[in-house]
Amino acid sequence: MRFDLPNGGHVQALKDISLEIKTGELMSVLGPSGCGKTTLLNIVAGFLAPTEGSMTLNDHLITEPAAERGMVFQQGALFEWMSVRENVSFGPRMKGQREAQWRENVDHLLNIVGLSDFKEKSVFELSGGMQQRVALARCLANDPDVILMDEPLGALDALTREKMQGLVLKLWKETGKTIILITHSVEEALLLGERLLVLAPRPGRIHKEYRLPFADLGVGQDLREVKKHPEFGEKREEILSMIWDMEEEIMGSAEEASA
Ligand SMILES: Nc1ncnc2c1ncn2[C@@H]1O[C@H](COP(=O)(O)OP(=O)(O)OP(=O)(O)O)[C@@H](O)[C@H]1O
Ligand SMILES: [Mg+2]
Repeated sequence: MRFDLPNGGHVQALKDISLEIKTGELMSVLGPSGCGKTTLLNIVAGFLAPTEGSMTLNDHLITEPAAERGMVFQQGALFEWMSVRENVSFGPRMKGQREAQWRENVDHLLNIVGLSDFKEKSVFELSGGMQQRVALARCLANDPDVILMDEPLGALDALTREKMQGLVLKLWKETGKTIILITHSVEEALLLGERLLVLAPRPGRIHKEYRLPFADLGVGQDLREVKKHPEFGEKREEILSMIWDMEEEIMGSAEEASA
């Protein structure tokens, strides 16, 4: 993916990316700011067309956004003036379903995300964590094959974030959905990625890939216990210093450029 700039220059946002994701996989993506994480997700979502190469889902080309690929944004993508239930049923209603058709599933999803008592509330009355739970339920109501999340928990306080990490794992297990989750948090990437991709910048590329046991462990166990796993600490240190080195390099080259 290359962005041409108005000044005649260009940014090679992603280069030589080759990636295959299996149905039901939970993949987290980590990397320093500007390495192309959002760009990658936007291509899968169909918001951006790659300048070279292609992406397929279930053997068909991805050319535009579609309900088979649901997106959960960091925040602010809900309809504030609508109730929780209206938000979550938005997709099915747009498809022309009548209430009798969507009601049971929407109420079931609201139950899974713990919002049964808040169905009639307006979104602006909810806390940030509750709003992200609405966003998750709304995405699931469209029954997508793939769920794309760009820093979905980034705007939450630490405690709420931890609870939401548990919820993401629960939804993953209960629905069997394929999930791609971008995060800036190394711990979150380790906890929520049975597969973890570390991207490197300039040009954005795959630097390293891990297969990890922690997401599976976290389904049945307190996430704090999972973090005590010796391998968790080892991987965290390894990846932290990997990303630290990349950031140093970026800072170094920025200083050179301005010198
Ligand atoms: N529409 C655009 N036009 C020009 N350059 C762009 C555009 N979108 C992204 N870029 C550039 O592409 C690179 C990758 O951007 P991207 O937003 O994908 O990074 P990111 O990894 O998501 O960063 P962050 O962690 O800060 O969200 C950056 O150098 C960015 O400036
Ligand atoms: Mg981004």
